[in-house]
Amino acid sequence: MNVSERISNVFASPIRKLSPYAAAAKAAGKKVYHLNIGQPDIQTPPAFLEAIRAFDDSVIAYGDSRGDARLLNAIQKYYHDWGMDFDINEITITAGGSEALLIAMMGVCDPGDEILVFEPFYANYLSFANVLGVNMKAVTTKAEKGYELPGEAAVEACITPRTKAILITNPGNPTGRVLTSDEMELVARVVKRHDLALIVDEVYREFVYGFPFRSFGVMPGLEDNLIVVDSLSKRYSACGARIGALLSHNADFNEQIMKYCQARLCCPELEQIGAAALYSTPRQYLADVNDEYRRRRDTLEKALSKLPGVTFSSPQGAFYTMIKMPVDSAEKFAIWMLEQFDSHGETVMFAPGDGFYLTPGLGTDEARLAYVLNCADLERAIAIIGEGLKAYPGAKIIA
Ligand SMILES: Cc1ncc(COP(=O)(O)O)c(C=O)c1O
Repeated sequence: MNVSERISNVFASPIRKLSPYAAAAKAAGKKVYHLNIGQPDIQTPPAFLEAIRAFDDSVIAYGDSRGDARLLNAIQKYYHDWGMDFDINEITITAGGSEALLIAMMGVCDPGDEILVFEPFYANYLSFANVLGVNMKAVTTKAEKGYELPGEAAVEACITPRTKAILITNPGNPTGRVLTSDEMELVARVVKRHDLALIVDEVYREFVYGFPFRSFGVMPGLEDNLIVVDSLSKRYSACGARIGALLSHNADFNEQIMKYCQARLCCPELEQIGAAALYSTPRQYLADVNDEYRRRRDTLEKALSKLPGVTFSSPQGAFYTMIKMPVDSAEKFAIWMLEQFDSHGETVMFAPGDGFYLTPGLGTDEARLAYVLNCADLERAIAIIGEGLKAYPGAKIIA
């Protein structure tokens, strides 16, 4: 049997590709602190499992392709509370934000078309684009400038006749950057000028520290162009539930993507029932979780600032940051940390940074850290990275 070139050429996620090394480290008896993946340790609200336990139909039947009515209603209300009004037929439940991204891309691009992203970006975007034969074009943002967007001319320069969409993550993964209103206006202007789709991935909307979040969904004039990617994974710490959503006011887009949704029949029914119940979780839950991540962010920054030669840009949202390390290669260092290093039987796994860039050579001495551990574990994990940097043969001497 032949395996397709299409799948063989798909980019391997930097978030998971070193997992075999972590498994080997654990098999050898090491404790591994996982800073590589955005898997929160926060408890999923009990309403999820309670609703599933209360399910008493004798058959777990296929559900509606758009989604379970209870969940659609809950999401509609959630968006209304954020100042965004969508009809039910403008919302589609998906298998996580991941499937929402795939559907959004397939809904606006043909093979050979281009999507513009701002690098560093959420690495799995590239895998989805690869599968669809879509080319990504990246506008580079820089840590030294706090990952601010470059001027309008630099963005415009990357638009070609094949550009069909701008895909933007806000708050940012892996940078933790939250866009300013001016940056949002800039993106909106470019989108309107070229009549592009604007795919906004706002799955970290609740995770902004110290100031309110503004969604692209409240900006007037974008109704025809906007596609919102949403997910329950982080909002309610329900990553394994695999429930997300896609929202758009564009009737043509909604009608066309439904053909794919009908072909894949429906999303998991029980998880949708659990997910619908999550939306009745008291608001305080999200406020408490936000406080906890803010503490973790502060803990992370304090711990990182003690490491000689390590630089980073302070994250304002989500729960990630990119760090620059004084090493020959962040990937080699990551593997060495898992294979050869431990501090009292403990080590750390992080995601090498180059996988979050499209431009070759960028990010080779960077790593993405997910601050999804409690403060004590975070402090310990960063201290271990510090010890590793002192012992790593490929470390650069800090003057
Ligand atoms: C920016 C971003 N978008 C989408 C996803 C996918 O989320 P889901 O678990 O809903 O598929 C993630 C997961 O980490 C993410 O960080």
